[in-house]
Amino acid sequence: MDRFIITGGTPLKGTVRIAGAKNATLPIMAASLLCPGSCQIHEVPDLRDVRVMCEILKLMGAQVERGKGYCQIDAWNVASCEVPENLMREMRSSIFIMGALLGRLGRVKVSYPGGCAIGPRPIDLHLKGLAALGAKITEKHGYVLAEAKELRGSDVHLDFPSVGATENIMMAAVRARGITFIRNAAKEPEVVDLQNFLNKMGAKIRGAGTDTIKIEGVTDLYPTNHSVIPDRIEAGTFMVAAAMTQGDVYLENVIAEHTEPVAAKLREAGAEVETSGEGIHVTGRRLKAVDVKTLPYPGYPTDMQPQTMAMLSIAEGTSVVIENIFINRFKHVDELRRMGAQIKIEGRAAVIRGVERLSGACVEASDLRAGVALVLAGLVADGQTLVEHVHHIDRGYEDLEKKLKKLGAQIERIQEVR
Ligand code: UD1
Repeated sequence: MDRFIITGGTPLKGTVRIAGAKNATLPIMAASLLCPGSCQIHEVPDLRDVRVMCEILKLMGAQVERGKGYCQIDAWNVASCEVPENLMREMRSSIFIMGALLGRLGRVKVSYPGGCAIGPRPIDLHLKGLAALGAKITEKHGYVLAEAKELRGSDVHLDFPSVGATENIMMAAVRARGITFIRNAAKEPEVVDLQNFLNKMGAKIRGAGTDTIKIEGVTDLYPTNHSVIPDRIEAGTFMVAAAMTQGDVYLENVIAEHTEPVAAKLREAGAEVETSGEGIHVTGRRLKAVDVKTLPYPGYPTDMQPQTMAMLSIAEGTSVVIENIFINRFKHVDELRRMGAQIKIEGRAAVIRGVERLSGACVEASDLRAGVALVLAGLVADGQTLVEHVHHIDRGYEDLEKKLKKLGAQIERIQEVR
């Protein structure tokens, strides 16, 4: 497994281009299975999760071609409806195959998606939604089989605005007879991007981005082209990195509205954040403590919580971070403590007493965002930090160390001899 060696203390300076959003790319790739034809997707990031999704689509019978920032998916011959367990375990987003294949073939068999270091991640809301559309769901021996001779439009009320459940139900409902309403739907920008992709294919969806989505089922879908939206979490990560290293960074290819929850918090902490054109300019200084509560969009993203905690570890004063989305998302705390952070956990709350400096240590990434938080901590720590299990970070950041190096960071990847 690869590692990063980071020598802290250099403020980040320069320009960085943000890649297409992982969390928009994965459901859009799955949704391309709905269309008997060839879809072209642009701004596709080169990530481990994207490579896994390509493997799954190929196994389902699709032809997949990749180029730089580009993916062509020809789903003319989709025949298989069973995703092998090893790929389901590799990545939770493999669950998107359910809605897409149910819509296309009327049958799909998957195992429960991979366990996850950030706490229990059930799929009950996905299954309830698909059942409401008329799918018969059978759960046996760790597998879920969903079958429907014909899907029919329905009124689905989600107990929680789950991003994945909203997207899965949208994909299946596109091919249902009649109208589906998803109420208490997730409002994340990635849900809107999926709506835009599906509508370009001929779907009739309105309301994504609000809490009610209306989907009028259609019989035919057509090949299309689509450019994925910029990754607001990668952007947020670089914004936090610029602020906490007291740097001066311009981020290109961002949608400022999507990063506003993070920008507002950074301003409150004392950083300067300005929007200009299709970019954001962040200038850091010694930051002040701020309180943060993670919430569904447009609240503060849970996917930015670990990075924000790394930043608050060196802010002046005491901050409280409340995690409302994933109950167990504090795995990075022990590792940050090894670097000298003063953090106490009480249930869903973390109390962080800012210290002047962190100190470099050997730490382990337990998941994607926890891992990148340790990289950010390493950028401001005294001496060297060794971050192990970088493969978690590779799931969601394209060329992280190259981008950081271009901004002046001292970071090297040590490749495991394979
Ligand atoms: C998506 C994102 C992930 C992000 C999360 C929350 C993708 C590929 N991943 O994950 O990066 O952290 O949104 O913004 O887009 N829940 C249930 N039952 C369900 C589904 C969800 O109880 O059937 C719960 C989860 O355990 C969690 C909460 O709902 O506590 C939110 O999960 P959800 O919005 O579904 O997250 P994901 O779609 O898995």
